[in-house]
Amino acid sequence: MSKVLITETVLRDSHQSLAATRMTIDEMTPILDDLDKVGYHSLEAWGGATFDSCLRFLHEDPWQRLRIIKNHMKNTKLQMLFRGQNILGYRHYSDDVVEYFVQKSIANGIDIIRIFDALNDPRNLETAIKATIKENGHVQAAISYTTSPVHNNEFFASYAKQLEDMGANSICIKDMAGLLKPYDAYQLVKAIKGQVKIPVQLHTHYTSGLASMTILKAIEAGVDIVDTAISPMAMGTSQPPTEAIVATLAGTPYDTGLDLQKLDVVSKYFADIREKYLASGLIDPKVLKVDVNALLYQVPGGMLSNLVSQLKAAGKSDKLAEVLAEVPRVREDAGYPPLVTPTSQIVGTQAVNNVLFGEGERYSRVTKEFKGLVRGEYGKTPAPISDEFRKKIIGDLEPIDYRPADKIPSELSQLKERVAPYAEQEEDLLSLALFEQVAIKFFEWRKAQKHNLDSNANAENGVHTI
Ligand code: CO
Repeated sequence: MSKVLITETVLRDSHQSLAATRMTIDEMTPILDDLDKVGYHSLEAWGGATFDSCLRFLHEDPWQRLRIIKNHMKNTKLQMLFRGQNILGYRHYSDDVVEYFVQKSIANGIDIIRIFDALNDPRNLETAIKATIKENGHVQAAISYTTSPVHNNEFFASYAKQLEDMGANSICIKDMAGLLKPYDAYQLVKAIKGQVKIPVQLHTHYTSGLASMTILKAIEAGVDIVDTAISPMAMGTSQPPTEAIVATLAGTPYDTGLDLQKLDVVSKYFADIREKYLASGLIDPKVLKVDVNALLYQVPGGMLSNLVSQLKAAGKSDKLAEVLAEVPRVREDAGYPPLVTPTSQIVGTQAVNNVLFGEGERYSRVTKEFKGLVRGEYGKTPAPISDEFRKKIIGDLEPIDYRPADKIPSELSQLKERVAPYAEQEEDLLSLALFEQVAIKFFEWRKAQKHNLDSNANAENGVHTI
């Protein structure tokens, strides 16, 4: 039994989950010094969807955001979420992009990189892990938690051991859908702690109402670090409230040592942000309530709302029950992938197609992405896919049994020319590599801003000389 450490998620997952990743650096800056004073183990502040959101919606340079946050962190480690070979994007990138991205993330201020793969295929983590070690960063390798006949504690514990052997400095149990129940968490943490020597961290979501209890049982089983969010930005689809966990553990052998008074300063600040987001509609009160659908159907909340809207658009809302029954069948056929971006969309859409088209003949209409998943484009599935089913879906196409990135040619050199007209920093090359069109649009906007500023300055100078 020892002191439990806290990772605060308010600058990343909390607003990604509650407010569509729209928190701006201007909203963060005034509270950064106070966040640094709390004494958190780390602050999750970058990566995940924040990078895309900065460029696409906020007219913000994500690299500049990272540097500003880093400037205020005198005591607190900065942490980011990294999707293995997908980096912060939605497809597999070449190794040179992964390596350079890791290098620049650490150079700009990241201390801990949490790396995961949707399928738990260790080959998809290899390059990112090696690059982080090379740059002297802390590798936190994450397990995508899910439930299925092949996902049991032995499976997760041996995967954790494999990640430790690959060089991970700590392990994260990443329960993105809020499926992990308190007593299961206890057994899971015990199983993993029995296999690895490195610290184990728990990341879960409050969505199904279990998260605070799950954290407590995980702590009793020996988990070292837990993710929480400051209370005004906690619960609902976000993490459990930091203050409640800190107060629960105070005076016990697990005492976090954090001071509720210091947390209150942070809390008061974000209470205003919450009110602002509720008033503008950025936080929909719907995401704040307990949603037991994840437990009933074993699908993440976000996936369920996607299914509902797909069916509505097709005028087939009455088919929801059939689709929900089809999801586990599709998942079984596809080797039980965990349901997290991008596999949740791929399995969900295929289940909808199976119900709506072909008059009872399943897989009469197969999406390109589902073919890719079955072929092995995303990596190795947790359970093998039968040859018969694979043939039915991809025909004579050759299955991919190697690490998918092995066949992706280097991408950086050819992008250098494209970025040249816009480049203001070396990191712009990476923004372009990940989000081509979106990055170009941002670069053009940035250029136009500069131009406006310059001409305003000239106009003012003109007035003064006259
Ligand atoms: Co999360």
